[in-house]
Amino acid sequence: MAEGGPPAPALGASAAPAPDLIGLDIWPASIALCRYVAAHPQLVASPGQHVLELGAGMGLVGLLCTKLGAASVLLSDYEPAVLAHLGSNVALNSLQPRCRTQQLDFRHPGAGLRPDQQRTWRLAVAADVLYCEAIVPHFIATLKLALHAQGVALVGHQVRRAVVLDPATRLPRLEESDGPLDAFMRDVAGEGLQLRVLSRRATCSNVDSDPMVLLAVGGQAAVLAGLPGA
Ligand SMILES: C[S@@+](CC[C@H](N)C(=O)[O-])C[C@H]1O[C@@H](n2cnc3c(N)ncnc32)[C@H](O)[C@@H]1O
Repeated sequence: MAEGGPPAPALGASAAPAPDLIGLDIWPASIALCRYVAAHPQLVASPGQHVLELGAGMGLVGLLCTKLGAASVLLSDYEPAVLAHLGSNVALNSLQPRCRTQQLDFRHPGAGLRPDQQRTWRLAVAADVLYCEAIVPHFIATLKLALHAQGVALVGHQVRRAVVLDPATRLPRLEESDGPLDAFMRDVAGEGLQLRVLSRRATCSNVDSDPMVLLAVGGQAAVLAGLPGA
């Protein structure tokens, strides 16, 4: 840097971070979660059921919950570009005003959920949000802030095992397990939430995908045993 002058811009640096467009796809875990919800519509269609979708992306699960008769559905995501498409999907399906969108970033859940929206949700849904380990503690914090003590979050997850370079053989190999899923299942109970694995077998027949796991996460007073298995 020239003395007294402005710092030279770093090569390739841009003013704003690139938008995170991962949510513009429909991910297989959302299809698996939709199948579970469609098989058990009483979960969403019970009187006064308000549903929160976290990391909604294109909102497939939340849109289905609205169509199945939920009293209201709030589709949330952190990415403005994704939220714009999400709003279009709600409009295209003529689901306003029962279905709405709202910005919610797992890293700042208190900023995304108004005080009257905190610890109130009796049903939340989330598909394929545990795709990297860094998200796990933030997602758990969001669940803690969002869920009513008797509330339940249905979490659909596509099992992925990272490819790593084996230091011994110097050959690529698959990790033994799914790191973010392991971290979530290990840490969620320590945060005062309950966990039940609803299914480890659910798959999507229309895509060649890894196995799906469906989890139910409950507040302290939730009765997870009452949920139907997948
Ligand atoms: C793999 S996509 C899944 C999208 C959709 N649920 C599905 O299954 O098709 C992950 C979603 O999580 C959202 N996401 C990532 N980080 C987030 C954060 N910190 N807070 C809220 N949403 C986040 C992304 O914008 C994206 O929509």
